[in-house]
Amino acid sequence: EIDFKVDSVLSLMTLEEKIGQLNQYSVGEEMTGPGNKDKEDSIKYHQLLSGRVGSVLNLLGAENTRKMQKLVVENSRLGIPLLFSYDVVHGYKTIFPIPLAESASWNLELMQKTASISAKEAAASGLHWTFAPMVDVSRDARWGRVMEGAGEDPYLGAEIAKARILGFQGDELSDPLTIAATAKHFAGYGFVESGKDYNSVNVNRQILMNQIIPPFKAANEVGVATFMNAFNDIDGTPATSNNYLLRDLLKGEWKFSGVVVSDWNSIGEIVNHGTAIDLKEASQQAINAGTDIDMEAGAYIKHLKSLIENGSVSEEVLNDAVRRVLKLKYDLGLFDDPYRYSDTQREKKTLMTPEFEETAKEIALESIVLLKNDQQLLPIQSAQKIAVIGPLAKDKDSPLGNWRAQATAHSAVSLYEGLNNTIDENTTLDYAEGVKLSIGPNSFHEKQQIEQADRSGFEQAKSVAKNADVVIMALGETAYMSGEGRSRADIGLPGLQLELLKEIYKVNTNIILVLMNGRPLTLSWEAENIPAILETWHLGSQAGNAIADVLVGNYNPSGKLSMSFPRTVGQLPMSYNHKNTGRPTSGPGMVFYTHHNDVENSPLFPFGYGLSYTDFEYGEIQLNNTSMAIDGSITASIEVKNVGRLAGKEIVQLYIQDVIGSTTRPIKELKAFQKELIEAGQTKTFTFKITAKELSFYREDGSFGPETGTFRIFIGNDSATASFKEFTLK
Ligand code: IFM
Repeated sequence: EIDFKVDSVLSLMTLEEKIGQLNQYSVGEEMTGPGNKDKEDSIKYHQLLSGRVGSVLNLLGAENTRKMQKLVVENSRLGIPLLFSYDVVHGYKTIFPIPLAESASWNLELMQKTASISAKEAAASGLHWTFAPMVDVSRDARWGRVMEGAGEDPYLGAEIAKARILGFQGDELSDPLTIAATAKHFAGYGFVESGKDYNSVNVNRQILMNQIIPPFKAANEVGVATFMNAFNDIDGTPATSNNYLLRDLLKGEWKFSGVVVSDWNSIGEIVNHGTAIDLKEASQQAINAGTDIDMEAGAYIKHLKSLIENGSVSEEVLNDAVRRVLKLKYDLGLFDDPYRYSDTQREKKTLMTPEFEETAKEIALESIVLLKNDQQLLPIQSAQKIAVIGPLAKDKDSPLGNWRAQATAHSAVSLYEGLNNTIDENTTLDYAEGVKLSIGPNSFHEKQQIEQADRSGFEQAKSVAKNADVVIMALGETAYMSGEGRSRADIGLPGLQLELLKEIYKVNTNIILVLMNGRPLTLSWEAENIPAILETWHLGSQAGNAIADVLVGNYNPSGKLSMSFPRTVGQLPMSYNHKNTGRPTSGPGMVFYTHHNDVENSPLFPFGYGLSYTDFEYGEIQLNNTSMAIDGSITASIEVKNVGRLAGKEIVQLYIQDVIGSTTRPIKELKAFQKELIEAGQTKTFTFKITAKELSFYREDGSFGPETGTFRIFIGNDSATASFKEFTLK
């Protein structure tokens, strides 16, 4: 029925109106006010009124969106409603942990819930469409945008992609409490060379299909409404004009029926990539490859008409793109009521409710990863003098992280406030900032400035530390040290923080290092010397309350890393699911094997790693059979006992190794996991069913499936787990 309606609208449209549907601008409030001469003169304003703009980015609020919608619906010839879009990445007004942090919770249900709350808030504020989730797998912590993703693993990434998309979109796009989601950035953006944002991507077909593609494929399978191009070129072709990715794979093999939107001016950037001579040729390449909407390049609006008239782009290609946009508008219910998302009453009632804040705290608790806890320093006992030191201790802004949508600046609960809210009356807090951390750096120049920051706060911090039973050091990155355009070549603690930490350590070794950061960091000195380390990322609105609950033991930490922490930046890119190579073996005195001479091969903290205040003992892996038919299944199970004195959640992880393949295969790959609460003293059995699906991969000839032979099943509490059982696929 919708297809019929779409076609009937399409049949009424002029060429210019069709092209207008593919034109997206970033506009602000100024476009919606009562007309004055400037506005009326503005090209964009005229284009809006005449149906030459199909969607808008960055216009927010029920009132503003209603005004602009009205302008378009009432003035343009066909009154086709606009789509309002925005980057709602980890919350709209209520801010949840950054996606990398959330992914460390491995709690799919909760991630779906935070996405659905983000959608409720955004939809109440007039928005129809978010440019999230970012589903780029990445193995390089130098890349600033790892904060926006789900880490290094394609399986975990795919599961999280599905959860987030279902959260944003719900069961029905026409439900006005949901919004359309975007799987981005298609494809390869997480593999930019040397982790430098926007850099080139050179990957072979195996890496593309087995590491990069799975979350995108999963996104399509759960019905994601839109895909966004990546900025990078991949194997010599810009992603935005990539026929193979967009036409053959996405719209061809996967039959994706939604919309492909370019990234910001990524059609224009095809010219910089050097595969098109000018914007006109770039437009031709992009639309022919399958990029439907032009975000901010002004390319389609300028050039599509003549490209169609001279036959370089067919009407069929144009109509297909326009149909997709119109269908999305129908699916969202905008043809029934263009104003259904723009309701100021609903907006007032919906934003930042206490219930949403509660969920923000719940997911923040689950996202925290305990990296080290020697000497039982954690949880902190009561009746102690606690020194809280560091530039992030009282910071109310950094926990909001990058891409924080409409968060009010400085609105997060700081660590210090959280502790104050949580400790009992016998415990005292003392504070020193120690050193300042600037917001940037945005550039090498700003980095130099941070480095020259003064050490004048060191002495006071040391005297506060000297008088304390335990010192909490709040160190890491500010919100804008990770995110788009924030790649770093050195991923240690920025500025003078490590120096401060070492100074404090001289006067008091009872240190709990509370890290706040948007990416894995190199922490070799810290991990060797500091007895307790808690990774808290940028945890969102409720950060301080959640961290304090973990510090004092009101919550037993249960997060596990979704990205390896390297020992040194020289190990990057790295991931647990690497190949064996021809020379994997190490031994005393060995030189000629796969390694660096100056650092161990293993990461500092591996993928899947995270401690608890209790201990879990894993039993033997049990397989119900030693062989499996291709259309059959095998069951693996394991008993896990909580041998400590506290209840805790454990994430039991199952990895598979395909021992011999037609191509070289990873040493192990995550294929399933379960997160469950285990009471103190309780034993739980975790059971996993393995079918051909878990054994399949993309082969050299492009086919997908399993290959007969020996497989190893590993089950354990992180990716370094070594015990396995074998079976044969027949
Ligand atoms: O959605 C983003 C994208 O991830 C990076 N460039 C800008 C877009 C719109 O804000």
